[in-house]
Amino acid sequence: MEQKKPGERYNEIVAKLEKKYEVMGQDLSSYLDGLLYSDYLTYWDYIHLDTLLSLQNPKTSFPDEKVFIVYHQISELYFKLIIWEIEQITAEEKPNADFFQDRLKRIIRYFEQLVSSFAIMVDGLDKDQFLKFRMALLPSSGFQSAQYRYIELMSTDLINLVSAEDRATKNEGGAVGLMEKLYWRKGATELASGVKTLTLKHFEEKYMRSFSDLAVRFQSRNLNKIYTQNFKDHPQITELLRAFDRLANVVWPLSHLKSAGKYLRKDPDDIRATGGTNWQKYLPPRLQRIFFFPELWSDAEKAEWGTSDRG
Ligand code: HEM
Repeated sequence: MEQKKPGERYNEIVAKLEKKYEVMGQDLSSYLDGLLYSDYLTYWDYIHLDTLLSLQNPKTSFPDEKVFIVYHQISELYFKLIIWEIEQITAEEKPNADFFQDRLKRIIRYFEQLVSSFAIMVDGLDKDQFLKFRMALLPSSGFQSAQYRYIELMSTDLINLVSAEDRATKNEGGAVGLMEKLYWRKGATELASGVKTLTLKHFEEKYMRSFSDLAVRFQSRNLNKIYTQNFKDHPQITELLRAFDRLANVVWPLSHLKSAGKYLRKDPDDIRATGGTNWQKYLPPRLQRIFFFPELWSDAEKAEWGTSDRG
């Protein structure tokens, strides 16, 4: 191909720029003046590095509390990437199959990183320090991760997020009724008295409205709906969704549970969780039995759900 002379290239670019700014009724030469005076972009400004590195502020002087904070922040950033991919998939009623697969592969990759890095919590904290600094964090808990709930609400129908016992009974109350019975609300409520933990109360006060709005928006276009309406016969998409379901609802919960087991299990009495749930009953995926894509699992597979992180 014939190489263009520099003058020709500039003229071409200037002509294109003129067109671009003309459409908006703007004068290109003023913008070129701006370019002349503006500073070069730096790496640290671009990614807001100083702000990012100013966000790790322990409540105690135990060194490992910083590890705990940073790792939660890393997890939230991965959650953000997962939400971003789901948003792109669900932006259209029927996404292109290749696009769908490609984004699902990304989601799986992010989840795999979350799972493999969980050793930072399970093996990478000093237990004595953890058991002390956690007392300064009451009553906060990872339970209050709104992004974790967004991933759930964007992935599946509300009924699949209702507590296992309520899922089997008839729901009369529509979406509002189902929101009342979300498994995590039930898990943080004392069954006999109906009293909610303080952790749950704070969480609901801050986020419940945004959860309800999201649930309404996504009931007709969550990943499960998009799959069942368009891709039921697509073997690769089916396999990818199964992998995502296992990672989100068995493998990650089991690696997370290992950390609770390591730090909070103490014979004869287990240690109370900062969020106040009965974590031994609440956290195990075999008891929680959440499936984003229940139709993709056989009865035998469902019966085994959460009993192993392999297979
Ligand atoms: C030493 C590390 C950790 C321990 C001991 C731990 C412990 C717990 C416990 C006991 C609960 C139950 C709720 C409660 O009563 O507080 C919980 C819930 C939760 N934690 Fe953690 N956690 C740890 C690290 C993390 C990390 C790094 C994340 C990442 C964001 C996280 C996210 C969550 C989420 C999303 C829930 C709710 C799970 C659900 O509703 O199924 N946790 N955690």
